[in-house]
Amino acid sequence: MQKQQIRKGFSKLSKDEKISLTASYFENPEEAARELKSFWHGDPGLQKRLDEFAENTISNFYFPYGIAPNFVINGNMYLVPMVIEESSVIAAASNAAKFWAERGGFHSEVLSMTKIGQVHFIWKGAAEKLRAAMPEIKDKMIAETASITANMRKRGGGILDIELVDMTDKLDHYYQLRASFETVDSMGANFINSCLEEFAQHLKRFLKEDKRFSPDERDCDIVMAILSNYTPECLVRTWVECDIAAFDGIDRNLNALQFANKFERAVRIAQQDVYRATTHNKGIMNGIDAVALATGNDFRAIEACAHTYAARTGRYSSMTDITLEGGKFVYELMVPLAMGTVGGLTSLHPLARFSLDLLNKPGAAQLMMIASAVGLSNNFSALKSLVTSGIQVGHMRMHLFNILNHIGVTTQEKDKAISYFKDKKVSFNNVKQLIASLRREKS
Ligand code: MEV
Repeated sequence: MQKQQIRKGFSKLSKDEKISLTASYFENPEEAARELKSFWHGDPGLQKRLDEFAENTISNFYFPYGIAPNFVINGNMYLVPMVIEESSVIAAASNAAKFWAERGGFHSEVLSMTKIGQVHFIWKGAAEKLRAAMPEIKDKMIAETASITANMRKRGGGILDIELVDMTDKLDHYYQLRASFETVDSMGANFINSCLEEFAQHLKRFLKEDKRFSPDERDCDIVMAILSNYTPECLVRTWVECDIAAFDGIDRNLNALQFANKFERAVRIAQQDVYRATTHNKGIMNGIDAVALATGNDFRAIEACAHTYAARTGRYSSMTDITLEGGKFVYELMVPLAMGTVGGLTSLHPLARFSLDLLNKPGAAQLMMIASAVGLSNNFSALKSLVTSGIQVGHMRMHLFNILNHIGVTTQEKDKAISYFKDKKVSFNNVKQLIASLRREKS
């Protein structure tokens, strides 16, 4: 084992050298290196591409890539690819998809697709002078970024607006340029950031050179120029609806109306209680993140935005809402989703491209609708279980495989365990005891 020490120049080492160095931290370095290499892709060209997605890559980290079938969204049927390591999530999405496919499917609409970027700056001049110059500044910024925006404009997107935001009441001399963008089918992060950095340079130049500003107003300190991952105007609304009577038979102990009422109560609790809201929304994001990953989208950005949106009123709350009126059940999810189907990993990662092909090459708006339908389906399944049998029955059954793999069982033992636990409570101890007793019987 190596001592803890500051490593200089790790990034300059070759891949083999990085592996040797990492492996030297293990008791058996040869075995550690072999393990890392065992996860390499068989095609060296493809492996090189995967390596280059990030830095200091020495191996690949596998996650399951699964399919949730039977998603009917606005009348179209999809097999939805999901990348997720948590058991039950794909099963839950699939169950809800089938349930709603038989009740009209998911309905979805994209309300808007605007994205936001900001130039944050410190300026000690007279705000009204800057405000008065803004129309001119904006026109010049749009003209000066014409070469950056040319392709995007051809595709129907570009810069929508640039506003001055006076934040001096929050922080001394602090202003923003808040720009809005339409990035069509791309997530657009690089495009937005390139525009913003140009805006920042232009602003600095303009203030320095324009005669309307006095010498002590000529200096502007650009703090940073960066897109915002909060995109409350890149919004999709997805819902399911049915007659309450259509829940007949959904549970042994609850009739259709009792189920709908109990489900509604669970939603109201998530709207009122921040602890429950967080878990409720986590269940939604189980599905959304899994689709984001499978399609090469930035799930961290999507997560960050969703939770900020959930707290937009100043109090964190559920992203879903429900109405039970006139014998109808309507359940909807409203979530901002900045997703892309061109650019970034979407075409570079072979499985992301495969996913998009499987989804019939959707545009960003369609992908927003698909991902939100999966999020809603995961949440519906979770609430359905929570207000009826509880989550653990289904969850632990799926978890059984993980426990069996962890213990290390034969195929025969696995089959026996699956049949044994069909009607029994799964726990790590119960599984361990069963396997031990099967082994005792055998010896
Ligand atoms: C588990 O990953 C997600 C749930 O906890 C969501 C929920 O409680 O609504 C089941």
